[in-house]
Formats: sequence, C-alpha cells, structure tokens
Amino acid sequence: MHNIKNICCIGAGYVGGPTMAVIAQKNPDIKVTVVDINEARIAAWNDADLDKLPIYEPGLDKVVAEARNRNLFFSTAVDEAIEAADMVFISVNTPTKTYGKGKGMAADLKYIELCARQIARVAKTDKIIVEKSTLPVRTAQAIKSILHNTGNGVKFQILSNPEFLAEGTAVQDLMAPDRVLIGGEQTEDGLNAIQALVDIYATWVPNENILTTNLWSSELSKLTANAFLAQRVSSINALSELCEVTGADVNEVAIAIGKDSRIGPKFLKASVGFGGSCFQKDILNLVYIAKSYGLNEVADYWEQVIIMNDYQKRRFAAKIIQTLYNTISGKKIAFLGWAFKKDTNDTRESAAIYVADQLLEEQANIVVYDPKVNAHQMQSDLNYLNTRSEEDNNQYLTTVSNPHQACKDSHAIAVLTEWDEFKTYDWQRIYEEMQKPAFVFDGRGILDKEKLETIGFQVYVIGK
Ligand code: UDX
Ligand code: UDX
Ligand code: ADP
Repeated sequence: MHNIKNICCIGAGYVGGPTMAVIAQKNPDIKVTVVDINEARIAAWNDADLDKLPIYEPGLDKVVAEARNRNLFFSTAVDEAIEAADMVFISVNTPTKTYGKGKGMAADLKYIELCARQIARVAKTDKIIVEKSTLPVRTAQAIKSILHNTGNGVKFQILSNPEFLAEGTAVQDLMAPDRVLIGGEQTEDGLNAIQALVDIYATWVPNENILTTNLWSSELSKLTANAFLAQRVSSINALSELCEVTGADVNEVAIAIGKDSRIGPKFLKASVGFGGSCFQKDILNLVYIAKSYGLNEVADYWEQVIIMNDYQKRRFAAKIIQTLYNTISGKKIAFLGWAFKKDTNDTRESAAIYVADQLLEEQANIVVYDPKVNAHQMQSDLNYLNTRSEEDNNQYLTTVSNPHQACKDSHAIAVLTEWDEFKTYDWQRIYEEMQKPAFVFDGRGILDKEKLETIGFQVYVIGK
C-alpha cells in the first residue's frame, strides 16, 4: 500500500497551479512541489503580492496564501523535486501540432515525452506517474515504454487523472468536483496506485464522486466530455442563425429545450464561438484518432463541431462589416473583452482573436478593453496567426485600460467576452461619446437590448 508523502507536479500552468494548490490545502501532511522550466512563472507564483499570481482565478489567492510555504512550494529545481517525490503529476501543455505528421490535428506530445525522459533519468525510487494534461488515448503506453526502458530497476505505475476544471471557476470546480476520474492498470500494482490517488482526493471529495476505470477509458472520457460540451455550444450556435432569420429568440429556445431533463439547461448559451485551450484541441484529437483507425464517418461527425464554430466567428465579423455599410476601413471599432470567457486572463483560441483578425483584414482600427488581459498578450495572439506584419497588428489594434476610452468616438462596439462589469456601464454616456449611428454587436447576449435601443443604439444580438 502506498502512503503518499511527497508530490511533484511538472507544469505550473492553468491546470497544474490551481490543482496542486487545492490538493496541498486539503492535505497538509503531503508536501507538494510544483515545478516549471519557466522562471518568470515560478517567480510569479512565489510573489508575496497575491495579485501577481501568473493566472487569474477567483478564490485562488486565498488557497495559495493558506498553503504556500507550508506544504505547497513552487520551484524551478525540476530534477530535485522529481527525485524526492512518491507521485509525479505531469501537467505540461499539449498544444495541437503545428508541424509534420498530424499538423493542425494531433496533440504535440513533445513536452510530455521530455517529462517522461526526465523522470526516467533522475528517478532512483519507485514512483506513481499521473497524467493530468489532456492526452490522446494510449499516451500512457508511450510514457510507460519510455519509463520502463531506463534499465535502473525503478518501478513506475502510470495513472490517468484528467482534469475537468473550467477556467474562471477552477477553484470552485476543484473544491466540489462533479467527479474525479482515475484510470489505471487493472493489476495488483495498478489498483494499489489507483487507491493511493483515491486517498488523496478522498480527503475532501465524497467517495461516490471518485470513479476508477481502466487507463484507456479514463483518457478517452476526457476527450469525450469536452467534445460533448463543445457540441452543445455548436448546436445552439447553429440554431442561433436560424433564430435570427425566422424571428425566434435563441434564449427562449434554449430555455424551452433545457427544461427537458434529458437535455438539461447548461451549456446552451449562444455565443460568438467557443474558445479555450481544450475544446478545439480535444476534438481535433478525437478526429485524428478516429481517422487513424480508419473511422472516417466518426471523424467527420465530430469535425463538424469545429466547422460550425469557425463559421460562427466568421459570421459575427461579417455581420459587423455588413452592418457598417460594408466598409470599416479606418473606422474605430471598440472590443469589450478579449479573454475566451469571463473571469480568466486566458486567451487561448478566444473568438476575439479571430474576429479581430478578420476586421483588421478590412482595415478597421480596433481598440480593445479587457479587465484582465494585457496588450502584450493580445499582440502575441494576433501575431501567432501570421496574417500580417507585427508592426501592422501593433498599429491597427491597440489596448486601453478604460472602457470609455475604448468606446469614445467609435463607430461600433463589439462584446466578445461576457465580463459582468460590461452590464454595469453608463451606456447613456457611452452613446453620447460615440459616432452615430451607434452600433452595438453583442456576441455574448449579456446586454439589455431594449434599454440600449431606448438610449438610441442600433443593437445586434446573436440569435435574436
Ligand atoms: C421522441 C422524443 O423523446 C419525444 O419527446 C417526442 O415527443 C417524440 O420523439 P420516441 O421516439 O417515442 O420519443 O422515443 P425516444 O425515447 O426519444 O427514443 C427514440 C429512439 O432513440 C429510440 O429508438 C431509442 O431506442 C433511441 N435511443 C434513445 C437510444 O438509442 N439511446 C438513448 O440513449 C436514448
Ligand atoms: C472546458 C471544460 O468545461 C472543462 O471541463 C475542461 O477541463 C477544460 O475545457 P474551459 O475551456 O475552461 O473548460 O471553459 P468552458 O466553460 O467549458 O467554456 C469553453 C468555451 O465555450 C468558452 O469560450 C465559453 O465562452 C464557451 N461557451 C460555454 C459558450 O459559448 N456557451 C456556453 O453555453 C458555454
Ligand atoms: P495547461 O492549461 O495545460 O496548464 P499551460 O501552458 O498553462 O497549460 O501550462 C503548462 C506549463 O508546463 C507551462 O508553464 C510550461 O512552461 C510547463 N512545462 C512544459 N514542459 C515542461 C518541462 N519539461 N518541465 C517543466 N515544465 C514544463
């Protein structure tokens, strides 16, 4: 029987950071060390000023304040932390490949492989390795073969423990998860390893919410959960356009279908398109895996979720251009929001990036205000698309720290993220300071359309 005393987590990002903070808070007897090769990131995790933590998550500062330097440590000394640990979580990024075989589809496992090799190199005692990052099915096999070929006699057990936390509600999701999923080998050693991890979660998660499965079910469940969630968003987004042309209201439709307990009310909010580091990547992964087994119909079915999402982003940009008399060249357009959803500073795959890119192609001047995202991040998101020069991106998309400054003298305002504060603005003042006609494009359906129309705005809301 294992009794875990020392945990190391490789990767101090959006998943590793909050997850380890909560595990440490709930298990004061276990020493938890989160390591990363990114020195600036580790320094930020160690900053005495909790506002400087590298990721923004409501409630995270409190958890870190309680556990940090008690039994939670952040460090760049990767080898030392691996060597000391009984259990090593791998929580590094697995972006979509941007080169070679599977480019644009498959997950890039180079960071995972590097971790496995590093563990193999430094381990002197038996360890349980936990896959935390979202991984394609059967990655555990690859990790296993790297670890088992080290020749130094150290024994490893590999577990899959996928993360289901959503950004913006990470702490809440970790404190009260719908379920914790742990997959492992169905051998005596495998079952013991599973139990060791169950014991860690059981300090705060009710037993009936901790599910154990074989490795492949666990890995595939993660991809499937994200595919189903994304599919709901694409389904309601597909309907949003039909609502617009028929005079139905997508919110009313969502409420009407959500009342069916077989469907349920969540994840039916029409939007400018889903973003985030997981949905697109995981579906592409699922599609790639299906194709690699020759399951073309299965692959096509899931790919449609992405196709619909890309269309929704394009459609929103096209609506802005068309409404502004088919010319936005030189016009100031204000963006409220850049993050892929509210309450996070994460911008990966945010719809805002793609909408901005399309408007910049039409030579708009975009001025963005987001409560948590800085100018540097916005520029790097745009530059990553490689559509135009970095100088042009920098000249035509600017970032301001005040929403009124963003909206003043603009021809149109586009809401790209559903930040609560947008609802509380002095919209009368915003109207007075804008060019007329004053257009608002609400890509998140959060503003009060009637109130804005009474003020004088011309308002477009997705799905209405
Ligand atoms: C359906 C709707 O449920 C009902 O609300 C509507 O009014 C009429 O259409 P029905 O066709 O009678 O009702 O049966 P339903 O239980 O929805 O099943 C439809 C088909 O889906 C059946 O062949 C059923 O076997 C299949 N099904 C359903 C599955 O294969 N798996 C499931 O999880 C659920
Ligand atoms: C998702 C999964 O929810 C989580 O379980 C998994 O671990 C990681 O991926 P996350 O990407 O953080 O989490 O956010 P999520 O709340 O799922 O939202 C994803 C995207 O869908 C966002 O851009 C959001 O704005 C959009 N969305 C979500 C909608 O457009 N409409 C909805 O109804 C719900
Ligand atoms: P996620 O959303 O999956 O947490 P992030 O990109 O936020 O993804 O975090 C992953 C972290 O893993 C990054 O901070 C990165 O520097 C770190 N990382 C990647 N490879 C290694 C490695 N071999 N050793 C240590 N840290 C790594």
